[in-house]
Amino acid sequence: MANKTAVIVGALGVVGRNLLHHLEPDPDWELVGLSRRAPDFETRARFIAVDLLDRVDAEAKLSGLTQATHIFYAAFQGRPTWTEHNAPNLAMLVNSVEPIEAVATDLRHVNLVEGTKIYGSHLGPFKTPAKESDPPHLLPNFYYDQEMWLRGQQEGKVWTWSALRPQTVCGFALGSPMNIATVIAVYATVCKELGLPLRFPGKPGAFDAVYQVTDSDHLAKAMTWCATAPKAANEVFNLTNGDFFRWQNLWPRFAEFFGLQPGPVQTLPLAEFMADKASLWRRIVEKHGLQGIPYADLVAWPFADYVFGCDWDVMSDTL
Ligand SMILES: NC(=O)c1ccc[n+]([C@@H]2O[C@H](COP(=O)([O-])OP(=O)(O)OC[C@H]3O[C@@H](n4cnc5c(N)ncnc54)[C@H](OP(=O)(O)O)[C@@H]3O)[C@@H](O)[C@H]2O)c1
Repeated sequence: MANKTAVIVGALGVVGRNLLHHLEPDPDWELVGLSRRAPDFETRARFIAVDLLDRVDAEAKLSGLTQATHIFYAAFQGRPTWTEHNAPNLAMLVNSVEPIEAVATDLRHVNLVEGTKIYGSHLGPFKTPAKESDPPHLLPNFYYDQEMWLRGQQEGKVWTWSALRPQTVCGFALGSPMNIATVIAVYATVCKELGLPLRFPGKPGAFDAVYQVTDSDHLAKAMTWCATAPKAANEVFNLTNGDFFRWQNLWPRFAEFFGLQPGPVQTLPLAEFMADKASLWRRIVEKHGLQGIPYADLVAWPFADYVFGCDWDVMSDTL
């Protein structure tokens, strides 16, 4: 019989889905997934369709989670500006943790997934390598608000918390538009269909700068360790693959993978130039028998422009 019950909040995203797959074979874990959509894959997890922005819905749907021992928080709501991210993302954390905590008498741990953006990695040059003890950028930042709320909520409780700070998570997920692996795959496939070389669409400085990413499987293992290792209690950890790279060295390998000529840098905003490719994508879907995910849900092109526009070093300290 399972000893632990994991509630994965945001269980269909690139972070949550891969944590679910990581825990699935382990009989020591009962699994509960929270999201608005139903899963598109076979799973033994019990899925609860809930809108975490709606407190009434959250309280109604989560009041039965009396067996929950661990909460893994990986939900996310994108917004057009950085400041607009704060309110919905803090509300979803509060609306999931509070109702579960109220009924789960054996709650042991809440793990929060943050990101390197807490250091301002998305805004411009920042101190590298960034350490967990470094101050955040000039607020607001939703990771900071979430962490401060969680720290306060845990005070005086028997359960503990932890937070992980990955960078540009890579992994398989559907309908997860902030996924650099999907960005590269869709961009390269469109280039191939149009008979174009795989040019780097970002800034020249970003082609040369040091960058880092976090594999979703690696992140899943770290989340599990954080939730169960006593020494991770109430701690924050940067998490990357551990190897730094420059896009200029990887780009020819991506081109080779897709059977394309590697092109030079040609800076253009993908948010603008990929906007009219929906009908082309539909043709690609038909030609290759792909799943018919709506083009608008496939990739957040402004996210791609942000990643390929970082013409400064992005480095976390992971020692
Ligand atoms: N992706 C990256 O490169 C990256 C890098 C560093 C840090 N992070 C952080 O990691 C965390 C998880 O991000 P992610 O990339 O995995 O996000 P994601 O792929 O967009 O997934 C978000 C998840 O949240 C659920 N969700 C969204 N709104 C909801 C709502 N109102 N009610 C219930 N569920 C809701 C989604 O499911 P439904 O749509 O079905 O509701 C989905 O399961 C975020 O804090 C993100 O900032 C991500």
